[in-house]
Amino acid sequence: MPSSISWGLLLLAGLCCLVPGSLGDTTQDTEESKHEHDQHPACHKIAPNLVDFAFSMYHQVAQKSNTTNIFFSPVSIAVAFALLSTGAKSDTHKQILEALKFNLTDTREAQIQEGFQHLLHTLNQPNSQLQLTTGNGIFVNQSLKLVEKFLEDSKKLYHSEAFSVNFKDSAATKKLINDYVEKGTQGKIVDLIKELDEDTVLALVNFIFFRGKWKKPFEEEHTEDGGFHVDETTTVTVPMMSRLGMFNVHYHTELSSWVLLMEYLGNATAIFILPEQGKLRQVEDQLTQKTLSTWLEDRYPRSASVSLPKLSISGTYDLVEIMGKLGMTHVFSNAANLSGITEMAPLKVSKAVHKAMLTIDERGTEAAGATVLEAIPMSMPPTVSFNRPFLLIIHSKETKSPLFIGRVGNPLQK
Ligand SMILES: *[C@@H]1O[C@H](CO)[C@@H](O)[C@H](O)[C@H]1NC(C)=O
Ligand SMILES: *[C@@H]1O[C@H](CO)[C@@H](O)[C@H](O)[C@H]1NC(C)=O
Ligand SMILES: *[C@@H]1O[C@H](CO)[C@@H](O)[C@H](O)[C@H]1NC(C)=O
Ligand SMILES: *[C@@H]1O[C@H](CO)[C@@H](O)[C@H](O)[C@H]1NC(C)=O
Ligand SMILES: *[C@@H]1O[C@H](CO)[C@@H](O)[C@H](O)[C@H]1NC(C)=O
Repeated sequence: MPSSISWGLLLLAGLCCLVPGSLGDTTQDTEESKHEHDQHPACHKIAPNLVDFAFSMYHQVAQKSNTTNIFFSPVSIAVAFALLSTGAKSDTHKQILEALKFNLTDTREAQIQEGFQHLLHTLNQPNSQLQLTTGNGIFVNQSLKLVEKFLEDSKKLYHSEAFSVNFKDSAATKKLINDYVEKGTQGKIVDLIKELDEDTVLALVNFIFFRGKWKKPFEEEHTEDGGFHVDETTTVTVPMMSRLGMFNVHYHTELSSWVLLMEYLGNATAIFILPEQGKLRQVEDQLTQKTLSTWLEDRYPRSASVSLPKLSISGTYDLVEIMGKLGMTHVFSNAANLSGITEMAPLKVSKAVHKAMLTIDERGTEAAGATVLEAIPMSMPPTVSFNRPFLLIIHSKETKSPLFIGRVGNPLQK
């Protein structure tokens, strides 16, 4: 066993700004999905694995507390580890891909890498309606020589940028990394790293930035303070946006939950799941890939009165612990084989952090002409109020991947 182990660092940041509005109609979506079935782009092959991974990680995080907010980006985390896997060998390599829920018996590594390449390419397409950017930065200590193939692959497949830095000067390097993340998330995630070890030789940083606008916006003047029932005994006051109109909403009997789909301009959908009071845990345990695809395929347009809290929450996660529970241990230990990244020194990942933020508020909408008038049937429409803990998933239609997943337990908890 070598006497000195060099340290690598993995940092991930996700940011999601949701701008309120209202539900879109679904006719166009059906056309889009028909179209997609003919093509099967490479990223659709890895989509089921990403959903699987999203729920596995969600379950790990949710187990720790029944009440805290949860918010993370499965896509961001998977992309960063998939990039790391290109420089990992033997068991280290296998563990990374297996924790991301790939079965290496029936999926070729090349297929996986093609899938991620296509995923990143698609997500980073300029889109005038939806702002979505992801990036990977590799910060390498001046003393370290990287394997040429790793640099090429990460540039070609993962659109990554490499920076040569001096980790001994940890203050300057910390600033460089934090600035990179701040710039990538348009100023929303600042000071991602607080401490930086001088022994670090490599930092891998991934970020994702998403800003969506609802197809049809809520009206600001309808936003009023209301009670949010955190649990049976605690109620907090939060601004609730509301709208009476056409929504894709239905009651899922097996899960005792209302399920609401709201479309963004561009190709993303938000799925809100509102369990009956006290049933949240049960619903979390039952979330599966199959339920999710059913929700996305079966549409239930109907008139309803919907209210949603205006909020801003964030989640910060130690991935060494979480990924460890999903079976990824070698890469964080002295058994790590990252010889595909550098042959000069034994390297392990000492720290892996993910931070994601969610904002649902009025700011950011282009106010002009946003009001949509719709015919409402004469019968009394149901009222669906997200005034108790709920779950949400932000799904990218084009890549069929889960951009973000979360739980709102208390909108006031930062
Ligand atoms: C969460 O709720 C479940 C079921 O209600 C309970 O068994 C479990 O102990 C709770 N977990 C925590 C961390 O409070
Ligand atoms: C890492 O894995 C490669 C390929 O399997 C092997 O040749 C090399 O000896 C391993 N290095 C270490 C330090 O275990
Ligand atoms: C992986 O796929 C093979 C072949 O399809 C299957 O036999 C095996 O059970 C799968 N492994 C896991 C862990 O799902
Ligand atoms: C990082 O690079 C600097 C400058 O080349 C060097 O002084 C330092 O020892 C290196 N750090 C490690 C942990 O190798
Ligand atoms: C939405 O996705 C479809 C294909 O799935 C694509 O043709 C279309 O250009 C995308 N729309 C936007 C605004 O990116």
